[in-house]
Amino acid sequence: MQIKIYKDYQALSATVADEIIELVKNKPDAVLCMASGSTPLLTCTLTVEKSVKNNIDFSRVTFIGLDEWVGVPPQNDGSCHWFFQNHLLQALKIPAAQIHLFDAMASNLNEECSKMDKIISEKGGIDLMIVGIGMNGHIGFNEPGISFDKRSHIINLDPMTLSIGKKYFNSPVALSKGITLGLQHLMESKKVILMANGNKKADVIRRTIEETVHTYFPASIMQMHLQSVIMIDEEAAFKLKDETK
Ligand code: F6R
Repeated sequence: MQIKIYKDYQALSATVADEIIELVKNKPDAVLCMASGSTPLLTCTLTVEKSVKNNIDFSRVTFIGLDEWVGVPPQNDGSCHWFFQNHLLQALKIPAAQIHLFDAMASNLNEECSKMDKIISEKGGIDLMIVGIGMNGHIGFNEPGISFDKRSHIINLDPMTLSIGKKYFNSPVALSKGITLGLQHLMESKKVILMANGNKKADVIRRTIEETVHTYFPASIMQMHLQSVIMIDEEAAFKLKDETK
């Protein structure tokens, strides 16, 4: 696990956007998986800007959405689906057939999970997974206590996720479950970047890096991946011991 610290959110986001662009330049049919949320928002904007400026062709890329709120329709602007489509996918012009987002309205959610696992496996795995971190240490919707060997699954969301999750929605929604890629997918990805910015993430970043790996703090799994990078701004790094930095 590598740790990279950037001056601020702008510098962090620009570097992650460059990682995406480099991946696609080197492997035009790459499989890219991303989280939605506040953290990767600027990365999405900058990826779109840089891809236009440098004429990067995303037409052969496969995109995998990390997770989704069960029962929230894709037209809801708080859904992960809406986020990906409106902040990234439409602008990058990735063909619809190569975009794989969980259908959280499906009557058979287990089938959605099997479908996603099959797609990832048929594509030869994820080349680059970009994740955020929740205030309870979750990655995607892999909540505290989840086993590390799961692939896609449905999960009862942690009270903290339910409470913080309200920030994404303009009007009240009934949230209770999530559908998510599992941590086995993370371990099987060729490279994983965990991004975090701001003071409020400093403690979870410290726990991710400095505490013992444990299912009760899912992000600690990053320590076990050989090609994992924690990319954070100075604010999110401020609780790290000097020797960790
Ligand atoms: C969202 C996701 C979540 C978020 C995490 C941090 O698709 O997978 O795990 O990455 O909750 O959210 P933000 O970035 O909004 O602080």
